[in-house]
Amino acid sequence: MSGAPERVTYAGYLGLDELLSAQHPRTDRHDELLFIIIHQTKELWLREVIHEVRLAKRLIRAGEVEGAYKALARVSRIQSIMTQSWDVLATMTPADYLSFRGGLGTSSGFQSWQFRTLEYLLGLKDAAFLSFQDEGSHALAELQSALEAPSLYDDALCRMAAHGLHLPAEVLARDVTQPYEPSTAVEDAWLAVYSDTPRYWELYQLAEKLVDLDDALLTWRHKHVLTVERIIGGKRGTGGSDGASYLKRTLERRCFPELWSVRARL
Ligand code: HEM
Repeated sequence: MSGAPERVTYAGYLGLDELLSAQHPRTDRHDELLFIIIHQTKELWLREVIHEVRLAKRLIRAGEVEGAYKALARVSRIQSIMTQSWDVLATMTPADYLSFRGGLGTSSGFQSWQFRTLEYLLGLKDAAFLSFQDEGSHALAELQSALEAPSLYDDALCRMAAHGLHLPAEVLARDVTQPYEPSTAVEDAWLAVYSDTPRYWELYQLAEKLVDLDDALLTWRHKHVLTVERIIGGKRGTGGSDGASYLKRTLERRCFPELWSVRARL
């Protein structure tokens, strides 16, 4: 016996009651709502980005690389929106921010497990960041599993091997929980791809999509540094780092290092 069909409403489908009651400013300062919403939208976009990167990973592993291009192109578009949102935050002056900064305590972007999951998925493995999550939490379990799984770059390297390009066994069977070490053999393999693009069209397209992602992540990081310098100058971060100086060092992180270094040899 079937009952009356469930009435789907706009608010119900989107969970708007939960979404719009999830902003909890800790002060009565006007700008705190913007600060919260910018962070929440970033977490929502990260959720979608992680969803797309996971799809791309599965497709690349299955040899359906063309399908992965669409997911990766979508990720790059989302990254552009995330970068643009810094301009909205930059309308907040140092005085506006300082008026509610005390309420943030030691909470910090260091604790964004989705941001770190994305870094791990892309290949930036650093187990030290696990310590920012609570023991036994869902966040820690998610992060741990991303740390222990091959990254998008590992998947791409496997695909190169499937095309008959020579990659050393120690690269293909590396301990994926460890930071990736750039290798000349991998750079040579990418050189072969870029030197004969008709033959390696699939890998060439994939390589450029990966560079798009790395480029967009670095552009986002760069705008973060600028916004931070504009709002707190050289002050320390709420998470205890040396602030903008720490963030500048993150500009050296490259998810797909040989795709950058090979360019000097083309
Ligand atoms: C007033 C605005 C902001 C300031 C002053 C600021 C400052 C900082 C600082 C100093 C750090 C280094 C860790 C620490 O010591 O806390 C950091 C990390 C981070 N922040 Fe921000 N931030 C701001 C806004 C944002 C926003 C709007 C987002 C996201 C939309 C964000 C995402 C992150 C992430 C993901 C990290 C970790 C970066 C990494 O380790 O590579 N921050 N932030």
